[in-house]
Amino acid sequence: MDSTSTAMTNHMDAHTPTAARFTVLGIETSCDETAAAIVRGTPGQPGEILSNLVLSQFDEHAPYGGVVPEIAARAHIDHLDSLVASALREANLTLADVDAIAATSGPGLVGGLMVGLVTGKSLAFAADKPFVAVNHLEAHALTARLVAATPFPYLVLLVSGGHSQLLEACGVGDYILLGTTLDDAVGEAFDKTAKLMGLGYPGGPNVEKWALKGDPTRFDLPRPMKGRPGSDFSFAGLKTALRQTVTKLAPLTETDLADAAASFQAAAADTIEDRTRNAMRTMRDASDADGPIPFVVAGGVASNKMLRARLEDLATSEGFSLTAPPLPLCTDNAAMVAWAGVERMAIGSTDGLNTGPRPRWPLADLS
Ligand code: KG4
Ligand code: ZN
Repeated sequence: MDSTSTAMTNHMDAHTPTAARFTVLGIETSCDETAAAIVRGTPGQPGEILSNLVLSQFDEHAPYGGVVPEIAARAHIDHLDSLVASALREANLTLADVDAIAATSGPGLVGGLMVGLVTGKSLAFAADKPFVAVNHLEAHALTARLVAATPFPYLVLLVSGGHSQLLEACGVGDYILLGTTLDDAVGEAFDKTAKLMGLGYPGGPNVEKWALKGDPTRFDLPRPMKGRPGSDFSFAGLKTALRQTVTKLAPLTETDLADAAASFQAAAADTIEDRTRNAMRTMRDASDADGPIPFVVAGGVASNKMLRARLEDLATSEGFSLTAPPLPLCTDNAAMVAWAGVERMAIGSTDGLNTGPRPRWPLADLS
């Protein structure tokens, strides 16, 4: 396993009333990252990350070119207990010092969710603390408020291996879904494309690297959904078109690979930009805000430099201000889960120990 540890600290106002401040242990096991973190904070002010540990299962899944659910669940079991102990140790706390335990209970791979949930609920029971069942998508959406005092409402673009969504965050537990994918998630399309071209796993960073040397105009790939009303995404047609292009060309030279990667990346970025523009106009039309509306990007694909530059220009021209949390908080992590726990504790929203995993859990169901 690759082990990375991130500790980012934002200092809080010394005059924060202690009653509204919560310290929460967060657990994340919904996909292929085993993560535990401790976050302290008061909603409305940036939080303080006391520890933030992530174990990526990259090496376990690499031979298969994608995440294998059974392997992921077993790896979570092997590592979660010691990761939680390390997160507490790094924060210089014991379980008795935290106000609540929060674990991702969906959406995600059911085996991994069960490992995180059972661990979180057991710790809550043993320490007699409240338990918070966190929606993984809400945790991504609320990260903007962990890193900065981002006021509601704001627009969120979540682009990861599992999700492509545009949503308006109106409040904790209150989200309007503006668009989602009709088939593959954008990160999944990057991963499958990379696998097809033999560029390795995870696909996104490798496609980006090859695209740097390629000609994005050489292959005329489709821009699914572009020009249509609304903000839904679709990536299956793009993926299929690329497969046909690559199959026709085989065997591929290095120039072919670079051009195909660049053409794919340009098509994906065009589509995301078009869908996001529609979401911005919808939100702007319904808003009476004078100044720029916050626009938050999250998920691994948001680390793509070309996409980020496009989104930055788009935000400026549409009257939005782009906030991108630092990369370790954009990809899957437990600090975002702990922070969702802080936000939930502040509104008195906790869950019983009979809470089960929810592999499918749309954000709209939270309202
Ligand atoms: O958010 P994340 O770490 O995990 C979840 O899927 O929840 O996102 C991982 C995804 C993978 O599909 C990966 O290929 C993609 O994000 N990704 C990228 C880049 N870095 C990671 N896609 C395009 N360009 C990148 N630079
Ligand atoms: Zn995620």
